[in-house]
Amino acid sequence: MIVTDRWSDSKLPAPLLKQILEKREFLRHSLDAESLALIGEDAYQSPDDHVLEDAIVALALGKNVLLKGPTGSGKTRLAETLSYLFGYPLHSVNCSVDLDAEGLIGFKTLEVLQGQSQVKFVDGPIVKAMTRGHWLYIDEVNMAKPETLPLINGVLDHRRTITNPFTGEVIRAKEGFRVIAAVNIGYVGTVPMNEALKNRFVVVDVPYLAGDKLLQLLKERSHLSADDQLRRFVRLAAELQEQIRSGQLSDEAASVRALLDACDLAAYMAPLRAVRRAIADKLDDEREQALVNNLAETYFG
Ligand SMILES: Nc1ncnc2c1ncn2[C@@H]1O[C@H](COP(=O)(O)OP(=O)(O)OP(=O)(O)O)[C@@H](O)[C@H]1O
Ligand SMILES: [Mg+2]
Repeated sequence: MIVTDRWSDSKLPAPLLKQILEKREFLRHSLDAESLALIGEDAYQSPDDHVLEDAIVALALGKNVLLKGPTGSGKTRLAETLSYLFGYPLHSVNCSVDLDAEGLIGFKTLEVLQGQSQVKFVDGPIVKAMTRGHWLYIDEVNMAKPETLPLINGVLDHRRTITNPFTGEVIRAKEGFRVIAAVNIGYVGTVPMNEALKNRFVVVDVPYLAGDKLLQLLKERSHLSADDQLRRFVRLAAELQEQIRSGQLSDEAASVRALLDACDLAAYMAPLRAVRRAIADKLDDEREQALVNNLAETYFG
């Protein structure tokens, strides 16, 4: 039986959707409990028809997808939602922490079996995803250290193989394996990314939600229920985005994550204080903090 949910009403080409849903149904019955637990949640709201659908088409065609967007714009949520739609478990690595080859590929350890100690290799996320035909989410891929880049490039290559530097074993990706990577790139300034790496992806821009879609998200996901206040927060968000575009504020000022926090707090405290704690005080620059607080005054004062 093919599961029907919100995807069935989407504007995706019917044959593509049928193929995705049939495969998902197959996976649902063949995966073990540990793998099923790695499937994401269907929580992403697309700012327009293209963000979600273009990512779906690219992945269905066997491409790897690079999600590009400012902090708190929903990149991780989108990757989880794609994992949900396709039914593939999503293994994750984050390049911003001190990620080395061990963190990606795995490491050797000693295991005692019936009194005998043996060397055992513990698979890292890349090896797990490749050998099981699962998906891999690489967060902040632009922060990868130069020495780990060749490993990541190898995984993305059309050959879809890497050589495990610790065992010498050649690892081949099983059918179904895909990579979704994310980079934090705001409206102002871009973080440079290794050309060879960038070349191996289809790029999907992930902008902040705005207008009615943002209103709906805040309504559904925050503790705040007063419609009038929610609308003020949406207008404040639009103004913050405008100030970012004109270079007056840094990107994180319009993070939807911070906005959700502000709405949550505003359910229990004065909205101006909620904005200060959830948005303004997180900014490093005092001038920016004052700007956010002043803007909030115009909507909530
Ligand atoms: N379009 C969206 N749909 C659903 N939830 C969203 C959306 N945008 C932001 N959010 C909410 O905002 C929060 C941050 O989203 P998420 O963690 O996916 O952002 P991100 O782009 O991965 O951020 P970062 O770059 O900091 O990792 C989450 O709580 C998420 O639910
Ligand atoms: Mg993220």
